[in-house]
Amino acid sequence: MTKRVAIFLSGGGSNMRALVEDMTGDHPARPVVVLSNKAEAGGIAWAREQGIATEVVDHRPFKGDRPAFEAALSDALAPHAPDIICLAGFMRQLTGSFTDQWAGRMINIHPSLLPKYKGLHTHARALDEGDALHGCTVHEVTAALDDGPILGQAQLTVDPGDTADTLAARVLELEHQLYPACLRRFAAGDRRPLMLQG
Ligand code: GRF
Repeated sequence: MTKRVAIFLSGGGSNMRALVEDMTGDHPARPVVVLSNKAEAGGIAWAREQGIATEVVDHRPFKGDRPAFEAALSDALAPHAPDIICLAGFMRQLTGSFTDQWAGRMINIHPSLLPKYKGLHTHARALDEGDALHGCTVHEVTAALDDGPILGQAQLTVDPGDTADTLAARVLELEHQLYPACLRRFAAGDRRPLMLQG
């Protein structure tokens, strides 16, 4: 049975586009909704143009009350009946209550070679450490931030002239290859880690 995918984002949504563009033909999943906590997110406009259902759940009225925000997320998702949630640049932390509810059914892409550099500013941190290798990771989402079983990684060699911006751009290209490849496998029930070289 084709899996129904919800994609959460907060920004431009280039990873969401890569996922959507891959979900055709024999792909075991299809996008059913794109959800953002920001109405102005570029990804929302693009999804609407594609005829994909969209939902906006602004986090600001829920300030300090994550369970209430997550209840609103669940309400917005319910009519779309997703099987899988893909976090794609969704810049809100989710509580254990929400991640437990979606355990084994929610995945994320993070711009570092986890377990290195959980959280923000991953490219600058990799440069500061003098890392020779950097990249991105797709993983199952658990209650701990940027943790959970790894479904795939793509790596590249850091160049001497790299800045945080050039690294971010090069890693983003890898993200667009890795995330669709991992979702294809995950939706088909294959959780063996996929390792790509940039
Ligand atoms: C990506 O680097 C993703 O790994 C990170 O946020 C960025 C989102 O970019 N979590 P986009 O919105 O998919 O273009």
